[in-house]
Amino acid sequence: MSNIKEIERRKTFAIISHPDAGKTTLTEKLLLFSGAIQIAGAVKSNKIRKTATSDFLEIEKQRGISVASSVLSFDYKGQKINLLDTPGHKDFAEDTYRTLTAVDSVILVIDCVKGVEEQTEKLMNVCRMRKTPVIILINKLDREGRDPFELLDEIEEKLSIKVRPLTFPFGMGISFRGVYNLIENTFSFYKANKQFIEDDIRSFKGVDDPALSAIFGSDAKKLKDDIELINGVYEPFNKKDYLDGEVAPVFFGSALNNFGIRELLDTFVQLAPRPVPRETTKGFIDPTDDKFSGFVFKIHANIDPKHRDRMAFVRICSGKFERNTYYHHVRLNRDMKFPNPASFLAQSKSLVETAYPGDVIGLYDSDTFKIGDTLTEGESFMFKGIPRFSPEIFRVVMNKDPFKSKQLEKGLRQLTDEGLAQLFIQPDTNRKVIGVVGELQFDVIKYRLLQEFGATAEFSFMNAYKAFWLKYKSEDDVDEMKRLRSNSLYVDKTNELVFIAESSFALSRAQEKNPKVEFLSQVEHNDQTVEQGY
Ligand code: G4P
Repeated sequence: MSNIKEIERRKTFAIISHPDAGKTTLTEKLLLFSGAIQIAGAVKSNKIRKTATSDFLEIEKQRGISVASSVLSFDYKGQKINLLDTPGHKDFAEDTYRTLTAVDSVILVIDCVKGVEEQTEKLMNVCRMRKTPVIILINKLDREGRDPFELLDEIEEKLSIKVRPLTFPFGMGISFRGVYNLIENTFSFYKANKQFIEDDIRSFKGVDDPALSAIFGSDAKKLKDDIELINGVYEPFNKKDYLDGEVAPVFFGSALNNFGIRELLDTFVQLAPRPVPRETTKGFIDPTDDKFSGFVFKIHANIDPKHRDRMAFVRICSGKFERNTYYHHVRLNRDMKFPNPASFLAQSKSLVETAYPGDVIGLYDSDTFKIGDTLTEGESFMFKGIPRFSPEIFRVVMNKDPFKSKQLEKGLRQLTDEGLAQLFIQPDTNRKVIGVVGELQFDVIKYRLLQEFGATAEFSFMNAYKAFWLKYKSEDDVDEMKRLRSNSLYVDKTNELVFIAESSFALSRAQEKNPKVEFLSQVEHNDQTVEQGY
């Protein structure tokens, strides 16, 4: 099958980091190294500026930009690289978690001054859950950062993953001289150049090569000691351990100065996995499977504000996608064809005729897709593993314009289908609660409800700790909850019963009183084990 060739040459990945570590800069530099752009500075920052807490126009503008850069595809050394963008702002972290379900590996960027930060830990937890292979870049070596060995220890400890440095820095900040490549025994001399690539690489026969002393003088001993220490402390690099998500190769560099990035990219194309099998409700689907299948992991609204278009991003998992061919929308049990599917090359969007496993295509959508939806050639299975987490902030929705309640309902439904927030409804009172990860999402929801649906909503404070999906075998198991705790009981969009606990104490009490119920703060879209309703 010719598909195999196409599958073999694809690498689909995401760059993740705590905001400000250098994700956007690295994205741009990868495009620069691959030749997809010629000069740095061409990629606009697609992140919502950290200072913008309520600048709606800015949000809109940024959202517009990030559609175009949601997927960046480029060729490098005969491989087709699909880089899936993730939002830079932590308030949209859930979007990032979902995007991680559509990639086969990640590059994690860490700031050498700050080390492992809060968001780095959360993102790594998701990768670990999925056993996603990780390559780490320790960035900003042009700054006075922390001791590299200390950073490596911190990564192992806080991110619970073993590391294996493949390059190692010599100096840092103003004394930064470059990085030693431990696999190839080369030294890459640091040259600060923000716009262009300037390579100055020397090969050595090893750390005992006299040429090393000739170049570095008395400093050569420090470099030699460091390299010997690494080779002594860390086990030799093993590709299988990386592919199993157990060991992360580590690179050092300065994305801003195009430095250390070539080593990273070259190793990435050699090591990173091609599209891997994915779990569905009927078992694993292999990318080499003849029949087409894919799932929606992201929905983007307002591609064109004049037409209220949305775009559903589909990760292709098996077979071959062809334009204008009927595919089966499993949840709706309906066959649909797509005349204008979009693919993404560097920064431009174009019509796609065919696409292969690992590729991401954009389907124009008018309210037919939800996150997690599956397309097949007729079979009725759904892709699993797309996580839903308990929100962190909850607010009660208040309709400020009674004549627009239908619009409000529709707006809430569509925005939550996109995954912008989660909606919980109290069955008896019809009280609606919106749950999000960050405050900024409320601003976006309010703004979009008004702009796109003409609905005016306010959100009032709600004392809540976390939401728990309830898993149980029989209705009797939740009898106590329904009698005594109905104030805290809601259903989500799929009619699953959810307990919104006011505090961790309230959770413990409810757990004590309902021993046959499982309280889950994380479930999956399309998880058929949670299927009870209210
Ligand atoms: P993010 O997407 O992870 O949030 O980070 P981003 O790339 O936007 O980088 C955050 C800041 O760190 C930017 O500075 C960027 O220029 C800087 N940066 C990235 N890589 C390096 C590096 O290797 N060395 C140094 N010294 N700085 C680096 P900014 O001032 O916030 O933005 P800008 O005005 O430069 O765009």
